[in-house]
Amino acid sequence: MRVLGIETSCDETAAAVVESQPGRPPRICSNVVLSQIAEHAAFGGVVPEIAARAHVEGLDGVVAAALAEADTRLSDVDAIAVTAGPGLIGGLLVGLMTAKALAAATSKPLIAINHLEGHALSARLMAPVAFPYLMLLVSGGHTQIVLVKGPGSYERWASTIDDALGEAFDKTAKLLGLPYPGGPSVERVAAGGDPARFDLPRPLKGEARLDFSFSGLKTAVRQAAGAIAPLSRQDIADIAASFQSAIVETLEDRVARSLLRFRADFADLAAPVLVVAGGVAANRAIRAALERLCRDHGFGFLAPPAELCTDNAAMIAWAGIERLRAGLPPQDDAMIQAPRSRWPLDMSAAPLIGAGKRGAKA
Ligand code: KG4
Ligand code: ZN
Repeated sequence: MRVLGIETSCDETAAAVVESQPGRPPRICSNVVLSQIAEHAAFGGVVPEIAARAHVEGLDGVVAAALAEADTRLSDVDAIAVTAGPGLIGGLLVGLMTAKALAAATSKPLIAINHLEGHALSARLMAPVAFPYLMLLVSGGHTQIVLVKGPGSYERWASTIDDALGEAFDKTAKLLGLPYPGGPSVERVAAGGDPARFDLPRPLKGEARLDFSFSGLKTAVRQAAGAIAPLSRQDIADIAASFQSAIVETLEDRVARSLLRFRADFADLAAPVLVVAGGVAANRAIRAALERLCRDHGFGFLAPPAELCTDNAAMIAWAGIERLRAGLPPQDDAMIQAPRSRWPLDMSAAPLIGAGKRGAKA
């Protein structure tokens, strides 16, 4: 089975071909990502209208490149999987309309994929992780802990009540005058800073609920920086290091509680696994802390390589394959599906009090 995947929900224009054969590990035949970082850098964040236009200009070429690299003709693919949400509506429209056109022209089945399901299942492209497992998704738009029970079957255990973690990194970087995207910049300068110099809050640490909150930390960073302005290079490094260590400690607390709950809920599971996905998972301090935590709790830890952690279309194609293989409803209505800027993975999860903001990646 070969599936063409298309992803345009944020600031990456992506297409990929993934192949699955019975008894063999899946093969990523191509995974093409056209990043728009250069277009958005001057604005310090993703500008939705610029993103949508860049998808219009880039997508045809990216799809052609993905097919060429996979040595595949469109007529050879078995289905087309496309991100239908959640994300920026302009970009989603471009991807979904393109995929519908390709499906209509070739009479191929179209599968509408929830972007979060792509992240949730991406680890299984790397290793045959068995269901159920726990996933921590930390990206520019999402911060969630999800119980992954199988394709189409998820329980959201935690979410952020305000900012996403990547967003907190990006805003902190902006405040400190560091270049976009902020996460890698903060990590870089934090390496030369003193994490103990500023006493920043660890939001929700110790609370029984598993959720996240980062806006108070962001405010504390702004106040700490304001109190000693103008900032020297060392001040910036110290704030970045203190911020990162507050994040690490917060994540450790939230994730440790989730591991305990998973243990309690699935006591007879011999080899429980935590999977991490999303751009923030590239952060070495965070990765190391999660790895240690999993070791201490007897959990396996799986962090897909960066190109599968950040937004890509291989994970969308793969989610399509997983859904087809699981015999999920063929989604005859995908051809009339409208893009959804919001689309919870777990429809039964109650909206969080305080959540509901409408940021670029919300
Ligand atoms: O998954 P992703 O590529 O895109 C979506 O948001 O869907 O994640 C991008 C986010 C940005 O907020 C970026 O600052 C953050 O991931 N990020 C990092 C690092 N690399 C990327 N955050 C912390 N440390 C990093 N090394
Ligand atoms: Zn994403």
